[in-house]
Amino acid sequence: MRLLEASLLDFRNLAEVQLSFSPGVNVLLGDNGHGKTNVLEALNYPALARSFRGARDEELIRFGSEACHLRLAIAEGEKILDIEVGLDRGGRRRMRVDGDEVHRRVELVGRLATVVFDPQTVELVRGGPEMRRRWFDQGISSVDSEYLIHLQAANRALKQKASLLRDVRRGFSSLGTVSRDLETWNAELAAHAAPLVRKRADWLSRAAQAGRDSYMDLSDEKQELQLVYKQGVGSEDPGGTDADFSREILAVLDYITSDEIRRGRCLSGPQTDDVDIILDGVSLRTYGSRGETRTAAISLKLAQAEIVYGMRGVRPVLFFDDIFSELDKDRSRKLQERTAKDHQVFIATARAEDVAGWEPAGASTWTVHEGVVTIR
Ligand SMILES: Nc1ncnc2c1ncn2[C@@H]1O[C@H](COP(=O)(O)OP(=O)(O)OP(=O)(O)O)[C@@H](O)[C@H]1O
Ligand SMILES: [Mg+2]
Repeated sequence: MRLLEASLLDFRNLAEVQLSFSPGVNVLLGDNGHGKTNVLEALNYPALARSFRGARDEELIRFGSEACHLRLAIAEGEKILDIEVGLDRGGRRRMRVDGDEVHRRVELVGRLATVVFDPQTVELVRGGPEMRRRWFDQGISSVDSEYLIHLQAANRALKQKASLLRDVRRGFSSLGTVSRDLETWNAELAAHAAPLVRKRADWLSRAAQAGRDSYMDLSDEKQELQLVYKQGVGSEDPGGTDADFSREILAVLDYITSDEIRRGRCLSGPQTDDVDIILDGVSLRTYGSRGETRTAAISLKLAQAEIVYGMRGVRPVLFFDDIFSELDKDRSRKLQERTAKDHQVFIATARAEDVAGWEPAGASTWTVHEGVVTIR
């Protein structure tokens, strides 16, 4: 999969930008704060139907403008996909795929497959469990459109549950009046948690395999990277159908209800899942060196790219935002060369030396200066 062309209008500090990309390597050079990450953020927007930096839509609209637009032409094999997004200050998001309007995020998410490596990537290993959940949630959503539907439904149920529990604790509602609703939301949560947990287990076992291979490939010490899925709901998958598994989960949720009422919050569910990341038998989060932690985090992202290929048969577009300054030269070059062999690659950096001496065939290099992007 590759990006062919992009036009951006009033996206962050990019007033008007038109680009045609190299099918291979695309390098964006420019001093700090001139708009390199903004370009990557725009090109990535359709992949998640949101900013990869976690920004709110409104923040993407250029200061002083009422709306921003982006349009991308994407090639998947012989097929060409035309994606348009418009965001305005009233909170409206318009999305079109090949000219047809789509209304829900799930209809856009995953059409464009990308993987982003940026300075935040290391938080996958070092950060809290929410970082790892975001990684697998995004990774699974990009290969499985049902996943996002279950995730959104589970989150809705959790939100409702949380508000009921809070109301009881604060004395705004009596237990008698909410217990029926609590049961309903628990059943809803369990119904969606079962497929979520199963899809996570499957995806993470693929990620474990691919991540292990990538780590071996990038490191010289040949250490073994392991990923272990920590399922938070605490019920065993009985095999069988999703309905069987939902019943197991519901039994756990019912069992802890009195605890949840006492504490006034949700205690168990897919929102507490995590992944242990282990190198040669010890937890990387606790004991890892900076280099090991960084290499492991990059390996997890490479694994994500491998899974997209394994499950969808397309190579995602890879974005490297400012990560090579953090790696030694050998490892950087290895990563660049390996990934550029199979993927279209975008590299944004303020340091030309990150790519110095590397001249892949057909590469394009741009300069980004005060929101203006020009080809060299
Ligand atoms: N909505 C917006 N409208 C206009 N300008 C914005 C908006 N959001 C961010 N900017 C500006 O964009 C600039 C940052 O751009 P960006 O993060 O892409 O820089 P960069 O080239 O990646 O820099 P670095 O090398 O430091 O990572 C800042 O000057 C910021 O003020
Ligand atoms: Mg940047």
